Amino acid sequence: MEKSYQKLIQGNKIYAETKKFKDPEYFEKLSKGQTPEYLWIGCSDSRVPSNEITSTQSGEIFVHRNIANLVVHTDTNLLSVLEYAVKYLEVKHIIVCGHYGCGGIKAAMTNTYHGFVDNWLRNIKDVYHKNEDELLAIADKDERSNRLSELNVIEQVRNLAKTTIVQEAWSKRELHLHGWVYGLNDGLIKDLSVIHDGQDDIDSIYRFSINGTKTKAPVNKSTVPVVKLPLKKVAAKPKIQRVKSSR
Ligand code: CO
Repeated sequence: MEKSYQKLIQGNKIYAETKKFKDPEYFEKLSKGQTPEYLWIGCSDSRVPSNEITSTQSGEIFVHRNIANLVVHTDTNLLSVLEYAVKYLEVKHIIVCGHYGCGGIKAAMTNTYHGFVDNWLRNIKDVYHKNEDELLAIADKDERSNRLSELNVIEQVRNLAKTTIVQEAWSKRELHLHGWVYGLNDGLIKDLSVIHDGQDDIDSIYRFSINGTKTKAPVNKSTVPVVKLPLKKVAAKPKIQRVKSSR
């Protein structure tokens, strides 16, 4: 009985033969090294293959994919890919590409318990929470999840800009960050025009002073007067406070 995975091995033979037929030295040239200009951070979804949807070839895009294309600042996998791409491959552009109809986004918008993955999806819940007013104003369920796909991409580009790796690169050279969303229903990419090309594009508290780059100290915008505590401790009834979570 033919196993379904044999289709892949068969497909690979056709691929290798076709490439060699078009260019006999194709694999010899590729085996010498890679100089990709782009780092792609995309969703693991099988319907969003980076090379195929951008008509690019092997060697052109360095790729990292995870559920819902997240940039989490404690993810050692992503940070290692990012460092290698930026510091050693010297990519010129980093693209965060989400997609409409994303299962990860949809799952994060519900209260359904899935298991461990909910800890990962929690990052999307934070984006939802931050933009709740805008999202709740959208009546259509699909349109709402599509907007969250966009807002999620914007947030992940911001997260990239906050990394030491991207900021270190900015102190030495140009590096452009992009936020895109891919449409499963029409095969087209929408550029969200999220421009992050330098430290000026992020809030001051996230800026690092690297290689002598001058960063403005954060300004205290608080209008709440400073209350000096009395020197003597006054015994008082302990108060139970309910703290509402802030955004
Ligand atoms: Co997805």
